[in-house]
Amino acid sequence: MSTQTMQAIPVHNYGGPEQLKLEEVQRPEPQAGEVLIHVHAAGVNPADWKIRQGLLKDFLPMQFPYIPGLDLAGVVEEVGPGVTAFQKGQAVFGQSTKGTYAEYTTASGETLALKPKTLNFDEAAAIPAGATTAWQALFDHGELQAGQRVLIQGAAGGVGSFAVQFARWKGAHMIGTASTSNVDFVRSLGAETVVGKSFMMWILCWTQWARKPLNLHCKR
Ligand SMILES: NC(=O)c1ccc[n+]([C@@H]2O[C@H](COP(=O)([O-])OP(=O)(O)OC[C@H]3O[C@@H](n4cnc5c(N)ncnc54)[C@H](OP(=O)(O)O)[C@@H]3O)[C@@H](O)[C@H]2O)c1
Repeated sequence: MSTQTMQAIPVHNYGGPEQLKLEEVQRPEPQAGEVLIHVHAAGVNPADWKIRQGLLKDFLPMQFPYIPGLDLAGVVEEVGPGVTAFQKGQAVFGQSTKGTYAEYTTASGETLALKPKTLNFDEAAAIPAGATTAWQALFDHGELQAGQRVLIQGAAGGVGSFAVQFARWKGAHMIGTASTSNVDFVRSLGAETVVGKSFMMWILCWTQWARKPLNLHCKR
């Protein structure tokens, strides 16, 4: 077991942001197939706070304390037995199941890739979960083909902004929804039609009026 320590943000109980406190903890050691990474940037995803609040505990119970965070970009510090694809000093990005809100973490070599030189660490750490989710939704589950039309809700978000770019790359036609202040951003990513949320709300309200249900959000 390592005698070296590091700074990290372990969570000791389900709860709000008050659970996030910097502490001195033991530095992990890479096991077979793992890489020890000096984390330069940790990506933050909605899953991080949903797990911390206990919203997912029925199917993803946490053992305390745990270190939050899935996404990372950093530099290889050490490789465990059997790892041949990476070596000390290489800049990498990817995912860890051991937590990334820490100075160091370990990750399976299978979940890492070399960081492109054109991206800085912050940019690279923002990619893994959002891009993977968008890819799975569009292609693995949606089987999106060139020429098809796709509606991307939350198109300015961590998942949506990748979905827009992937759909454009595939040659699909896109409608994105976003806040009015994000409309230009989503269009710059490649969406042909971007609907601001206020306009979306107007359409929804109009549709509901036409059907005459009780809708407390839609005032005449
Ligand atoms: N990030 C991941 O890897 C991942 C993986 C699996 C599942 N998810 C889930 O996918 C969802 C989106 O994740 P994300 O990372 O893209 O989150 P995000 O970066 O916070 O983006 C969410 C987007 O949703 C829009 N939005 C927020 N409230 C809305 C509302 N009431 N009606 C319509 N649009 C609304 C916002 O649009 P504006 O900014 O334009 O207002 C925002 O851009 C979350 O529920 C998350 O838990 C995420």
